[in-house]
Amino acid sequence: TRGGLEFAVADLEAAEFGRKEIRLAEHEMPGLMALRREYSEVYPLRGARIAGSLHMTVQTAVLIETLVALGAEVRWASCNIFSTQDHAAAAVVVGPHGTAEEPKGVPVFAWKGETLEEYWWCTERMLTWEGEGPNMILDDGGDATMLVHKGTEYEKAGVVPSADEEDPEEWKVFLELLRASVAADKGKWTAVGQSVKGVTEETTTGVLRLYQLAAAGELLFPAINVNDSVTKSKFDNRYGIRHSLIDGINRGTDVLIGGKVAVVCGYGDVGKGAAESLRGQGARVIITEIDPICALQAMMDGYEVKRLETVLDEGDIYVTTTGNKNVVMVEHMARMKHQAIVGNIGHFDNELDMAGLARYPGVRRVNIKPQVDEWVFPDGKSILVLSEGRLLNLGNATGHPSFVMSNSFANQVIAQVELFTKTEEYDKEVYRLPKKLDEKVARIHLEALGGELTKLSKEQAEYIDVDVEGPFKSEHYRY
Ligand code: NAI
Repeated sequence: TRGGLEFAVADLEAAEFGRKEIRLAEHEMPGLMALRREYSEVYPLRGARIAGSLHMTVQTAVLIETLVALGAEVRWASCNIFSTQDHAAAAVVVGPHGTAEEPKGVPVFAWKGETLEEYWWCTERMLTWEGEGPNMILDDGGDATMLVHKGTEYEKAGVVPSADEEDPEEWKVFLELLRASVAADKGKWTAVGQSVKGVTEETTTGVLRLYQLAAAGELLFPAINVNDSVTKSKFDNRYGIRHSLIDGINRGTDVLIGGKVAVVCGYGDVGKGAAESLRGQGARVIITEIDPICALQAMMDGYEVKRLETVLDEGDIYVTTTGNKNVVMVEHMARMKHQAIVGNIGHFDNELDMAGLARYPGVRRVNIKPQVDEWVFPDGKSILVLSEGRLLNLGNATGHPSFVMSNSFANQVIAQVELFTKTEEYDKEVYRLPKKLDEKVARIHLEALGGELTKLSKEQAEYIDVDVEGPFKSEHYRY
């Protein structure tokens, strides 16, 4: 605590650098800045107490300060142990008008290189408010939402279960934290679950968890699926990855990508961006898929589609983009070429069998630099694993650039305003934003890039059965 503000970041002195980068990012985030202007006298988020769990980067700093500009009180944590940019975290704590001695910004609990224990501690602090608890959650991957739901569930059951021996380390650490927090503050999570009016979720993996909760009738509050706004998943997941995947590989390894064979597991939105980014560098790209539609798309786009087992003696670079678990197993890794690069860009690290790798008989881990490890097998052959299997674009580089995040985060802000101001219109279900708002986000960014939109005539609009002002497509249109 300093000047009455609670926070946990690496170094407040980095705030000045952070502020400079935030200033540059604001210009590149026209969606967020337009929302600040639109709501400058309305403060639709006045009274909102937003608990945010999303990669604490420069772009997120602009999101946080937009939420504050709209009247919200905010507390923040990162949703990944490696994704924080420490200067951005410091600048948000200091705020635009504070100093390192007298910070006046937002309580942030995040630094680059947290342990799992620290990660869950930060998430808990972010959800722990003086007086009244948070009444909104802004989530990326669903960890904050899971903490509130599991906390409520175990408080009701009167016991926090013990982890099984084979459970992932992550889950063991999570249950440990929950046990301590439930013992220290009885009924805490039930109260948070009741005070929260809604959650807005950023990513594919978090959205999947929300639909599972809703289907089981266990969702405690309404949710907006921000990921499936077209201006989110068809832009951030694809064009964001196209930019930040090779950024991560370059900063991590500086290996020439041209001429190499890159294997991309998964050809969804993220996989499409990943494949394009590697091909752009001159790699020969091979796709693995389980879905024939996506696999066929990959072939139409000119990639080979193979099984992972078939290409292990060819691949120089492997990237998982599936949002699934156990995609690249240690048995695969042991058969790869010497110094093959292995990384994941999906939300969780369980796409790669990191636990199996650590247990592999005779394997040796040689740390090259932060977020780059060489794993040497007993036969002397090694592989390079980026960010310990966590999303490498945020672990080894700085994630997606501002302009694409402006699309995603404009949807986030609109979704927060929607759920906070129209709570009674929403049930405990998962919703998407109306297409009209999606088109609004696109329009702002199109104009910022100097694109000229053709205007529909009244006759044309009638002919294709849409309104002159949009929405321009039916709900089932796939873009
Ligand atoms: P998606 O559902 O569009 O694509 C995933 C694809 O993987 C699907 O086509 C699916 O058929 C395929 N797949 C599933 N299991 C597979 C397996 N065993 N082998 C091969 N392919 C398999 O999802 P999206 O939007 O592309 O997201 C993927 C992951 O990336 C999610 O975890 C998401 O949260 C994360 N994400 C990460 C970002 C980052 O900055 N690192 C940005 C956006 C999303």
